[in-house]
Amino acid sequence: GGITTLDPGYKNTGSCESAITFLDGEKGILRYRGYSIEELADKADFLEVAYLLIFGELPTKGQLEKFHNDIKAQSHVDEDVKKILDGFPKSAHPMGVLSSLTSALVAFNPSSVNVDSEEEMYNAIVKVLAKFPVLTAWAYRKRAGLPLDYGDNSLGYVENFHKMMFNRPNGNYSVDEKVTNALDKLLILHADHEQNCSTSTVRIVGSSHAGLFVSLSAGINALWGPLHGGANQAVVEMLEAIKEDGGDTHKFMEKAKDKEDPFRLMGFGHRVYKNFDPRAKIIKKAADEVLSSLGIEDPVLDIAKGLEKEALEDSYFVDRKLYPNVDFYSGIIYRALGIPVEMFTPMFALGRLPGWIAQWREMRLRKEPIGRPRQVYIGETHRDFKSIEKR
Ligand code: CMC
Repeated sequence: GGITTLDPGYKNTGSCESAITFLDGEKGILRYRGYSIEELADKADFLEVAYLLIFGELPTKGQLEKFHNDIKAQSHVDEDVKKILDGFPKSAHPMGVLSSLTSALVAFNPSSVNVDSEEEMYNAIVKVLAKFPVLTAWAYRKRAGLPLDYGDNSLGYVENFHKMMFNRPNGNYSVDEKVTNALDKLLILHADHEQNCSTSTVRIVGSSHAGLFVSLSAGINALWGPLHGGANQAVVEMLEAIKEDGGDTHKFMEKAKDKEDPFRLMGFGHRVYKNFDPRAKIIKKAADEVLSSLGIEDPVLDIAKGLEKEALEDSYFVDRKLYPNVDFYSGIIYRALGIPVEMFTPMFALGRLPGWIAQWREMRLRKEPIGRPRQVYIGETHRDFKSIEKR
């Protein structure tokens, strides 16, 4: 029979049971597998958090070492993938490049497609955790006109990624620990966020038993949109536009409130958080710390703080419970770390990868049915065909 209730945007529809991430939007609480995001960002490293999200427990030293070694053993990417990358124009947005290359991984790793046992799942997971940072660094290096390298397996997961991004042909590579620590923290804060748009996409694509890599590729595309992960790029572009325009934040606030104008205050608002986004709090503090410890003054940070202050006192934003979200301050940190603006959303994807994987694995282990929402049909009922001459 037909259905009568609708919930566009699934604002009030649960799609699954999940034991991965707990989120209380009213209280501003976010926990991965029961551990608070604040504590994890402070005390754990990204790979530990990835393990926790995917397998449900913090790893022992031995488990973490094995996990890392298994990843290192898979950190090569077929040389022919470089030919695919070569076909893209330099101007291509790295999110499109990354989703394409992630799909292409299937062709180079056909054994990872059918994953019916936990062992096959594990192998596919390790492969993509190993290869995705290489692809992300390559997407950046292609744009920057830099040679494509492989990583340095003597380094930690995040340090290795940083080196793959910023190593230069003249061998002048060094990194401040503050930089990799900040990067680690940012990636942890992005690692999972229950049934958001990209994660729901990964679960729904995976529910057809399409493989892990293509499910992730679909997630990357969903994340790209400016209402989701693409907001981090859009925020910094907005802040730059305000700066160029003379720094009048009030003018942009009015524009965001004008219902005739499609402009929104990027980095504000959230489907679930109605008090504050706990990630934004940590990121704002980190932005201050990172910029001051690196001795960077970014005028855009002051504009961001000004906008936030104004919005928190404005009845439009107060009434609608619109607060800064994770994307509001993250771009300012990425920029201080030397990451260009088009790479902000790929950085989000790198951080979200463990969450997507954990959610996909949970969906498969729980043998969830194929995702297939219903609709209420509102089109023509029945019409007789008219030949083309008579239309
Ligand atoms: N600026 C101005 N008005 C806004 C904004 C904003 N950023 N966000 C929501 N509103 C208004 C919206 O116009 C609506 O007003 P009214 O009730 O008068 O029609 C009301 O607030 C409720 O908004 P909604 O669009 O119904 O809420 P939603 O849950 O469907 O959308 C959102 C959530 C995050 C897509 C939205 O707040 C938004 O577009 N924000 C800007 C983009 C952004 O920062 N996205 C990042 C989200 S957080 C992490 C991530 O996913 O990357």
